[in-house]
Amino acid sequence: MIAHSPSRSGTNVGTRVGERVALRGDLLYLRADPGANADAAECVHFEPDGWLLIEHGRVAGLLPADREPAADWPREDWRGRLLLPGFIDTHVHAPQLDVIGSFGTELLQWLERYTFPAEQRWADQHHAEVGARRFVRALLAHGTTSAMVFPTVHRGSVDALFAAGQEMGMCLVAGKVLMDRNAPQELCDDIAWAERDCVALIEAWHGRGRMRYALTPRFAPTSSDAQMEMCGRLLRDFDGLYVQTHVAENQAEVRWVRDLYPNSRSYLDVYAGFGLLGRRSILAHGIWLDETDRALLAERGSTVAFSPSSNLFLGSGLFDWARADAAGMRVAVASDVGGGTSLCQLRSLADAYKVLALQGQRLSAWRALHAVTRGAAAALDLEAELGHFEPGAWGDVVVWDWAVGEVHAHRLGLARDLHERLFAWMTLADERNVAAVYVGGRRVDA
Ligand code: GUN
Ligand code: ZN
Repeated sequence: MIAHSPSRSGTNVGTRVGERVALRGDLLYLRADPGANADAAECVHFEPDGWLLIEHGRVAGLLPADREPAADWPREDWRGRLLLPGFIDTHVHAPQLDVIGSFGTELLQWLERYTFPAEQRWADQHHAEVGARRFVRALLAHGTTSAMVFPTVHRGSVDALFAAGQEMGMCLVAGKVLMDRNAPQELCDDIAWAERDCVALIEAWHGRGRMRYALTPRFAPTSSDAQMEMCGRLLRDFDGLYVQTHVAENQAEVRWVRDLYPNSRSYLDVYAGFGLLGRRSILAHGIWLDETDRALLAERGSTVAFSPSSNLFLGSGLFDWARADAAGMRVAVASDVGGGTSLCQLRSLADAYKVLALQGQRLSAWRALHAVTRGAAAALDLEAELGHFEPGAWGDVVVWDWAVGEVHAHRLGLARDLHERLFAWMTLADERNVAAVYVGGRRVDA
């Protein structure tokens, strides 16, 4: 829960701040991807005790501490706290809050035993609407203000999710999950019905406010060739659609795809064959890719959503970011709840560090924060307006406590430079550090 209040001055402050607001605190955002270089200070914009000016929902500018906003700017004073662009989660499942932390299985059994039954319950519209609101509030309370989301196969689940996001003013990319085989009958659609639902949802939601539509074939095993072809067709017929799916997560899954698609060179090649790889395609996991796959992803500008918490929890494997770098692939970091065990992207980053450490690789705080802000925005083709504090970006801001409790305060107090401080913060903090959340310049109660 968000429990703090800023010290207030001026007028028109509170949970809805009107057209303008100036937020004071330690402002930080990434200007560019620092790559594997921890010393990439030129990529970091840090304005200690600065002012962030937000007008009509978007960033109007930054001021250093020694320059006050004009007298007619309402102010909220978060001095001594860290203000970051709201995190972006590029892969998360709304109905899976019901199964987060489920014991004892790898991917395929986990889907059957826990996930599919939970998703079946979203056939009930009331259940879907309550679940969607709970999910959206939870994202915000964990510091995430934009997300690419899987709801369920039910058309009503997509309406419920977009409506809940719209109510909070946030940016969501989502679409009806497509499955027409190898799943419980209750979760399977057919081509004609799925296409009708997709077209209706695209027309209702794609480009409405901050909502965007993603074609969502769950993964190769649960879509027939005909359904994949339909996805490719819709992608060509409508401008600006996204694709979200899973690829090469688990070794048993990879073997299954090889049996189902004997003529495809690889799991990734199945999606390529149906024309589903482009700049707005985000594929979760990508652990068991080979060099040819990585080169293809780089060439198409598609992104892998590295989901370390899920990969550890489901025992799926270790994503190799250095190889992805060498191939020139785009990578974002995601929670993949409910395979992942926390909606807080700081937990994803701490797990990412550990996954890479097991392979002798190092994840700097700068690269980590870039991957859940500006890098994730770039993966969604929304870098012009998301993931940083440059003029024109949405006023999506999370106010974080630097430390919760004596141990964290003590450790941060010993940091000798900004990277050390941010890295220790990122490793130790979680949603309990969230002090306030702004979406489009408006404070929201999550
Ligand atoms: N592959 C297909 N569906 C899923 C899912 O819901 N979660 C994860 N982690 N992998 C999947
Ligand atoms: Zn997933």
